[in-house]
Amino acid sequence: MTAILFLNGPNLNLLGTRQPEVYGRTTLKDIEAMCRDAAAQRNVTVEFAQSNHEGALLDAIHAARGTYDGIILNAGAYTHTSVALMDAISSVAIPTIELHLSNVHAREAFRHQSYIARVALGVICGFGARGYVLALDALLGHLETTG
Ligand code: DQA
Repeated sequence: MTAILFLNGPNLNLLGTRQPEVYGRTTLKDIEAMCRDAAAQRNVTVEFAQSNHEGALLDAIHAARGTYDGIILNAGAYTHTSVALMDAISSVAIPTIELHLSNVHAREAFRHQSYIARVALGVICGFGARGYVLALDALLGHLETTG
C-alpha cells in the first residue's frame, strides 16, 4: 500500500493558537485527523511527524527511505534557510511536495526564498489546512502516473 509521510517543522505544533489570523484555528491534531480520513478514503497509509529541530527533520527524511513513497513537507521557517533539508531531500530521492498554510509569496520578502522548492515536485501554499489534503492528492496523482 502506498505510504506517505507528512513532516512538519518548527512552530507547527502551535497551530490553532499561533497567529490564527495567518495560520487559522485548526490544530495540527485536527489536520492529522483530516488527512487520516482522506487517506482511508484513498486507500493509502499516512504518518505524521513534527519537530522543532532541524536535525530531527533530517533524520526523519533519511529514515523515510524504503518506508515511504512520498513526503509532504511543511518545513516552516527552515524552508527559507536550510540547505541541509534541501540536500536531504535530494539524497533520499523520495518525491516531496513543499507545503505551506499561508501564501508565502504574499508575505515578507524573506519568505519568497525557498531552498526546498529547488528539489520539490511542486509547491502548495495559501490554502490553509486544506492544503494538506490538496498536497496528498497531488502526490498520489504523481505516483500513479510515474507508477
Ligand atoms: C509556513 C510559512 C513559513 O514562512 C513560516 O515560517 C511557518 C509556516 C506556513 O505553513 O505557512 O512557520 O511554513
